[in-house]
Amino acid sequence: MGNRAPSSVSSLFLIFLCLLDSLNAQSTPIFACDVAGNPSLAAYGFCNTAIKIEYRVADLVARLTLQEKIGVLTSKLHGVPRLGIPTYEWWSEALHGVSYTGPGTHFSGQVPGATSFPQVILTAASFNVSLFQAIGKVVSTEARAMYNVGLAGLTYWSPNVNIFRDPRWGRGQETPGEDPLLSSKYATGYVKGLQETDSSDANRLKVAACCKHYTAYDVDNWKGVERYSFNAVVNQQDMDDTYQPPFKSCVVDGNVASVMCSYNQVNGKPTCADPDLLSGVIRSEWKLNGYIVSDCDSVDVIYKNQHYTKTPEEAAAISINAGLDLNCGYFLGDHTEAAVKAGLVHEAAIDKAISNNFLTLMRLGFFDGDPKKQMYGGLGPKDVCTPANQELAAEAARQGIVLLKNTGSCLPLSPKAIKTLAVIGPNANVTKTMIGNYEGTPCKYTTPLQGLAGTVSTTYLPGCSNVACAVADVAGATKLASAADATVLVIGADQSIEAESRDRVDLNLPGKQQELVTQVAKAAKGPVVLVIMSGGGFDITFAKNDAKIVGILWVGYPGEAGGVAIADVIFGRYNPSKNDSVLKTLN
Ligand SMILES: *[C@@H]1O[C@H](CO)[C@@H](O)[C@H](O)[C@H]1NC(C)=O
Ligand SMILES: *[C@@H]1O[C@H](CO)[C@@H](O)[C@H](O)[C@H]1NC(C)=O
Ligand SMILES: *[C@@H]1O[C@H](CO)[C@@H](O)[C@H](O)[C@H]1NC(C)=O
Repeated sequence: MGNRAPSSVSSLFLIFLCLLDSLNAQSTPIFACDVAGNPSLAAYGFCNTAIKIEYRVADLVARLTLQEKIGVLTSKLHGVPRLGIPTYEWWSEALHGVSYTGPGTHFSGQVPGATSFPQVILTAASFNVSLFQAIGKVVSTEARAMYNVGLAGLTYWSPNVNIFRDPRWGRGQETPGEDPLLSSKYATGYVKGLQETDSSDANRLKVAACCKHYTAYDVDNWKGVERYSFNAVVNQQDMDDTYQPPFKSCVVDGNVASVMCSYNQVNGKPTCADPDLLSGVIRSEWKLNGYIVSDCDSVDVIYKNQHYTKTPEEAAAISINAGLDLNCGYFLGDHTEAAVKAGLVHEAAIDKAISNNFLTLMRLGFFDGDPKKQMYGGLGPKDVCTPANQELAAEAARQGIVLLKNTGSCLPLSPKAIKTLAVIGPNANVTKTMIGNYEGTPCKYTTPLQGLAGTVSTTYLPGCSNVACAVADVAGATKLASAADATVLVIGADQSIEAESRDRVDLNLPGKQQELVTQVAKAAKGPVVLVIMSGGGFDITFAKNDAKIVGILWVGYPGEAGGVAIADVIFGRYNPSKNDSVLKTLN
């Protein structure tokens, strides 16, 4: 990007420009129909809040030229200055907190961070639907607060509700897991939390959610098999019983405002160009009230990677004709006009697509003038990272953590019996690892070590320089464990092991982690608790069978407050067994 600035003079100039940039940073929300600032806009039907949204949309579409309409098909909405419509970036993300992934959202001095909840796979393990919704509600409040100061959009491409069928999938961490029922419940709860307003008008949206990636997608890059060209062969029963339920619940029960089609093909057809999957199932059967968006840029992929069409114009046309409304990326902006001129797609199909897009923006209040004067107009930086929001992030981690082994009720550890706790492992004092992917800048971090050190005196050694653990400092780690009254090992994965575009090839712990754990357990003076921080599962049979390891916890990627929750569970301030009567006794 840009030219390099070799001399120190240019560097100074750059710093000056950057300062200028932050001074000039947008601090007001982006919206259309600024009637107060431009009274002539009041004459337009689409700005008239007194009439039905459908009429406003029709009024707007009728005023646009073909080129202007095409500007409404891409994730960067091209402004129409003559009608008082600004440029708008559709792509924001809020998988487990407002994220900086996607160009629509930024953090700044004004809002340096947002509450970072546990990665979804952990939250889902709470099996607590009201928690899913409560988190969504906090995230949408923080999103609106950031929108009001020009830092965020109104359209969020979250949640990811793909079924985590293959445990090696790098993106399984983003999902509610492998179970269609739980995934459906998660989808509905989180979407409602994001979208539902306090208004009596059920059509209004707080922010617009998007359930992705439709459908049968759970391979990214496995031994060279890539999502961009993968063809998922799925029979009808598996579609209906496994892959479709979360999407159906999103639309039918959650009333989600958007569905994103995936990169892969299903049974030989690209999902973003399949009229049965889009117009047929999502729009006609499930009655989506909103827009269908492509993955980024999966229309391009149809032509370039899959060679499904001979020309880019054909790829543009078949996806619009199949029911696609919005393209993440530029492809439809570049090729739709030629597709219309060639007669491959009618302008009426484009009108339909952009109507769905405008309808969504209207439901968000984007065409209602100054958002500061609307519902949620009072939200601002003070409403982000509040103590209550951050407490919910800790609570979600506590509720999600799974107890896998507890020999002789050795857990919880009694703080009184511990003079020194050895805390060992490559994930024992991590920060960013705890928030997984599609993350934002968190309010703050409490690492596992910091959490545990809040209760007892600790010694610490990572044992390996990173989770890949090519070399383990077994001597140092065993020395620490043999001198401590108890040992907590925090191991597992991070984005270097499992991530978007990075699937695993086996379920073994990386590098020398298993050896580190085994040797530490052997040398330890006191009880050993193994904490696995990961999205996907690992084969830990060796630890299950190791008598020295008395407790095993899986903590997912536990979010910004992970260390708080881990310590609460290990020291018995929270009981990880999902037993309501026990929970009630504790309260
Ligand atoms: C579900 O989560 C909510 C919100 O944190 C909490 O109040 C409730 O007690 C939880 N339910 C159970 C059964 O843990
Ligand atoms: C643990 O991590 C925190 C946050 O990165 C850091 O400030 C602290 O120094 C680390 N503690 C040790 C003992 O390395
Ligand atoms: C939950 O805990 C209570 C009290 O300890 C016990 O009586 C009950 O059997 C437990 N229920 C389950 C389902 O484990």
